[in-house]
Amino acid sequence: MIKEGCDIGLIGLGVMGRNFLMNVADHAFAVAGFDVDSGKADALEKEKGAERDIRPVTAIREFVSLLRRPRTVMLLVPAGNPVDAVIDEITPLLDPGDLIIDSGNSHFRDTDRRGKALIEKKILFMGMGISGGEYGARHGPSLMPGGPVNAYERVKPILEAAAARVDKEPCVTHLGAGSAGHYVKMIHNGIEYGIVQLISETYGMMKQGLGLDADMLGAVYDEWNRTKLDGYLIEITSKIFSHYDEKTGKPLIDMILDEARQKGTGMWTSWEAMELQVPTPTIDAAVMMRNLSVLKAQREATAEILHGPDQPFAGNRDAFLSALKNALYIGMIVTYAQGFALLKEASRHYDYGLNLEAVARIWRGGCIIRTGLLEDIRSAYGEGKDLPNLLLDSCLSREVMALQEDLRHVVRTSVHLGIPAPAFMASLGYVDAMRSKWLPANLIQAQRDYFGAHTYERIDIRGTFHTQWQQR
Ligand code: 6PG
Repeated sequence: MIKEGCDIGLIGLGVMGRNFLMNVADHAFAVAGFDVDSGKADALEKEKGAERDIRPVTAIREFVSLLRRPRTVMLLVPAGNPVDAVIDEITPLLDPGDLIIDSGNSHFRDTDRRGKALIEKKILFMGMGISGGEYGARHGPSLMPGGPVNAYERVKPILEAAAARVDKEPCVTHLGAGSAGHYVKMIHNGIEYGIVQLISETYGMMKQGLGLDADMLGAVYDEWNRTKLDGYLIEITSKIFSHYDEKTGKPLIDMILDEARQKGTGMWTSWEAMELQVPTPTIDAAVMMRNLSVLKAQREATAEILHGPDQPFAGNRDAFLSALKNALYIGMIVTYAQGFALLKEASRHYDYGLNLEAVARIWRGGCIIRTGLLEDIRSAYGEGKDLPNLLLDSCLSREVMALQEDLRHVVRTSVHLGIPAPAFMASLGYVDAMRSKWLPANLIQAQRDYFGAHTYERIDIRGTFHTQWQQR
């Protein structure tokens, strides 16, 4: 049955937009799709099939006229200027009470700015992160919406129907006010950067240290995916190693340039962590290594003059593989701990009112960082537990304690062989620093007071003190 007005309209019929729209239409919602590119609208017209109520158009006024009131318009256009351009174009055609949802990877500060400008015009605005790539958009992504709760309630049935499900629970919830949704998506991506870097360091050690070839590597990651490491990123890693290049007949991975670029959401996480003074060293190391990877010419020149230990691996291969697996597991715990600690502080700082258990719950399915570990993280925040850091959870800290020797072994081996492992090193440094009752920061206080009269605090008396260090 054709409905009179569409339940939702989507602007941007690129890969993500088209797939999300098909997903929503599969759940018996009527959807309008707009794109200036008639090729994209035509392709959707052909793809939609007879059973789905999808109306692709290329004229913006026609698009708006197709929507049921109050209207809901979702944007899936590239982050940055295109979002502002589309908002400027559509807003004059909308009425008070209509809703715009920006579902791109927008910076949370842009989301706040847009929300404030639109509310002046009585248009509701939500920022919503979507994770899961093309497949997720089509078959069930993790959705991270933030903004006015009454706006969320309006679209909740559509979002819950389209989202991935784990144990029948939809991977979507209202995360908080303002830019909470885009903030949570940014942290999701920061964690994604950290885990991706840790995995790539295990690859480097297995390839360069142990001499494993692509087939062997595929088998190792496949086996790891059947353990507590299981998760989307390990799963796709094992599949990548079994993919052969049609052109050369070689494993495709060996034909791919060793430079990793970025759209920047991981970098935003690191900036934000510095801003809020929350340590996220594993994520920072991941961002740094992306930047370093693209300095290929400099790396090649340096390799000519700066030689490392050049040692062959002399230990027990199976024992090292087992240590590597456990080290990766701790690295993942630590990366989540850093991301969630930043979310906790951001929630206080920006007044988002985030529920960290709910964040862990909606990341269990559909998104890039989904993994069985999120079940434990969810429990760690269960029953409203107010943990400052996941390392303070008794279960997770027991795991870290039990496996820490493996992480130390991996870091030692990387140092010994001269194979870079900065994310593992940063993770271990974080664990060691976080479990330090005493840090040599008293010396830094003294130095600052010595050279800049910045004062210092004492352990025995409250207040601030200054010493004339040069007077004896
Ligand atoms: C997701 C991904 C998605 C995208 C990143 C990649 O959750 O579906 O995170 O958002 O893959 O934008 O980011 P970089 O280009 O910065 O690696």
